Amino acid sequence: MATPHQHDVLIIGTGAAGLSLALHLPPQLRIALICKGQLNEGSTYWAQGGMAAVLHTRDTVSSHVEDTLAAGAGLCHREAVEFTVNNSRHCVEWLVSQGVDFDLREDQHSIAEREFHLTMEGGHSHRRIIHAADRTGRAISEVLTEKAMQAENIELFPQRVAVDLVVANGRCQGAYILDREHDRVELFQARSVVLATGGASKAYLYTSNPDGASGDGIAMAWRAGCRVANLEFNQFHPTCLYHPKAKSFLITEAIRGEGGRLLLPDGNRFMQRFDERGELAPRDIVARAIDHEMKRLGADCVFLDISHKPRDFLRSHFPTIMERCAELGIDIGSEPIPVVPAAHYTCGGVVVDTRGRTDLPGLYAIGETSCTGLHGANRMASNSLLECIVYAEAAAGDIAAALPGTGAPDPAPPWDESQVTDSDEDVVISHNWDELRRFMWDYVGIVRTNKRLQRALHRVELLQAEIAEYYGNYKVSNDLLELRNLAMVAELMIRCAISRKESRGLHYTLDYPDQLPTAEDTVLRPANSALQG
Ligand code: FUM
Repeated sequence: MATPHQHDVLIIGTGAAGLSLALHLPPQLRIALICKGQLNEGSTYWAQGGMAAVLHTRDTVSSHVEDTLAAGAGLCHREAVEFTVNNSRHCVEWLVSQGVDFDLREDQHSIAEREFHLTMEGGHSHRRIIHAADRTGRAISEVLTEKAMQAENIELFPQRVAVDLVVANGRCQGAYILDREHDRVELFQARSVVLATGGASKAYLYTSNPDGASGDGIAMAWRAGCRVANLEFNQFHPTCLYHPKAKSFLITEAIRGEGGRLLLPDGNRFMQRFDERGELAPRDIVARAIDHEMKRLGADCVFLDISHKPRDFLRSHFPTIMERCAELGIDIGSEPIPVVPAAHYTCGGVVVDTRGRTDLPGLYAIGETSCTGLHGANRMASNSLLECIVYAEAAAGDIAAALPGTGAPDPAPPWDESQVTDSDEDVVISHNWDELRRFMWDYVGIVRTNKRLQRALHRVELLQAEIAEYYGNYKVSNDLLELRNLAMVAELMIRCAISRKESRGLHYTLDYPDQLPTAEDTVLRPANSALQG
């Protein structure tokens, strides 16, 4: 029997949230950082636009707070919004101190001034998006990964995917984790466990997210008895590249922030007809307008045009997009980019407080896995990297304070594979995966109805039964675990959507097109949960 891994803190996920938390913990703590694939390939790495923060002399905390509350359509928790925004400058300073190289203003007089170039995105009333050209996530991810690799107290475990949490005596005490290279499940024990696994946009057929966004942390926390909230609010990014060879490639909102115009196939602008803020209306409005126009015209896509900007400007601000589009034969300096909306961000998640604590003692959730109350019914662009860093620091502080009073984990049984065999039907997994993602796109997408949601619920229940049988009989694999988690989270999304009898923010249904006068979170609690919250 393999010896369990023993650490003080187990962090599942190596995006901005997980890495920042690890780096904020005191160096005497032994930390395990679990990465599902290779380092530097999750959602953080692919984030283009940037991180919102109050840095401009004419900007204020209250303005950033009010913009966030307005985008969130009445559902943001003011306390969480103020907490996050109040910490924004300080978090930027921390990232800079770690070595993240954000773009500076081209017209600044000396490096000592360190005046950052700030870009604009939907819903913001000021320029407040700090960025590293159009590869901000990559700049953050590479620097923090390097720091984590250098830290003697942090052990990185790539190619591992969490199966389930270990809960004993009312506490989270670790997790069972599949080592994908050696095809075996190992026990990781820890005094605190942090879920930082990102969101669940892979539930949809078309998404801007990398493959790992399968809602693992949300599903595991739910199975462990924690509440989840607001999972009906899936953000569809209005502009993902539409091209047969482009998989999940985002065209950053910063392009619209720098003057990019959305055009119909006949070359006419249309956003002004839907919202006076035009292309810079919040994402729910822009995505719905594009969806409407595509359906009305039977068009495969709309177009985003930034070709009126000088080539040098495009090259310095959007090098990744320029390069990727050029590879596909699109010259963004002279022609518009074909774009469509795609699933981008899971606004709901595991219910946490301002220290990232879930309902289960010893278990924390941060970043896209969590529901802090910051995003409400619609996340304002670039608030999520900020949330990752702010809550990572807060959770690290709480863990460091709580650990001296927390005993060692209880003995736990090793993973039991005595009742299962190797699967000879992997095709079932990929078939179920395709089916799930397609009906989520068709029935739980940008525009919903009662009937579509009921259809989706029926199908997800059938799938869940098949998956449970499969899980009970066969050895686990990465694909099976992702499918199991994604189906679980899809069911939670559908249940949240069914229970909201109004249209608000990202949840739009033809059966209840109006917003109710009072705003309430949709909170789900597992039926058998004994946890308080
Ligand atoms: O458009 C973007 O660059 C995405 C930003 C975000 O999702 O915050």
